Amino acid sequence: MPKPGFPSESTGPNEGRVSRRVLLGTGWCGFLLSIVGPAVANIRFLFPNVVYEGPTQLKVGRPEEYAPGSATFLEEQRIFILREADGFRALSAICTHLRCTTGPFVPPNAQWKETHSRCPCHGSVFAQDGRVLQGPAPRPLDFYRVSLSPDGRLVVDTAAVVGRGDVLKV
Ligand code: FES
Repeated sequence: MPKPGFPSESTGPNEGRVSRRVLLGTGWCGFLLSIVGPAVANIRFLFPNVVYEGPTQLKVGRPEEYAPGSATFLEEQRIFILREADGFRALSAICTHLRCTTGPFVPPNAQWKETHSRCPCHGSVFAQDGRVLQGPAPRPLDFYRVSLSPDGRLVVDTAAVVGRGDVLKV
């Protein structure tokens, strides 16, 4: 029973129906969310929390750990440390065909007259100076810059590709 002086709570035939204003507002909100949500997600995608590439500055031990004339295969880092008569070089073990890791250097044999490394994926063969002895690799292996850290350890910078003439004299 309505109180005297107050209208009845029932408003007539529109009772319980959603007004056009509310309906349009809800629609617009949904539309804006469908635009803004993916836009924010795309922008966020440009700034990942995790970088999947490994570090480019690799500390690979002290010079005296490498025997003169050695070609040490660091499989995890995918590099060879070459200690040659004129100093240290770092040679990439990443095949220039499709980026498989090449195998360790092995001595000359009946087929190859020089020390060589074979890529297990499609059979490219590389000489110890990086040259392609057998394709399908299209170009030689890269050399990386080698330097000495203040604590006396060798550092290979895999972001700095250098020529074979770039050698660390120790
Ligand atoms: S990835 Fe090395 S030969 Fe194809």
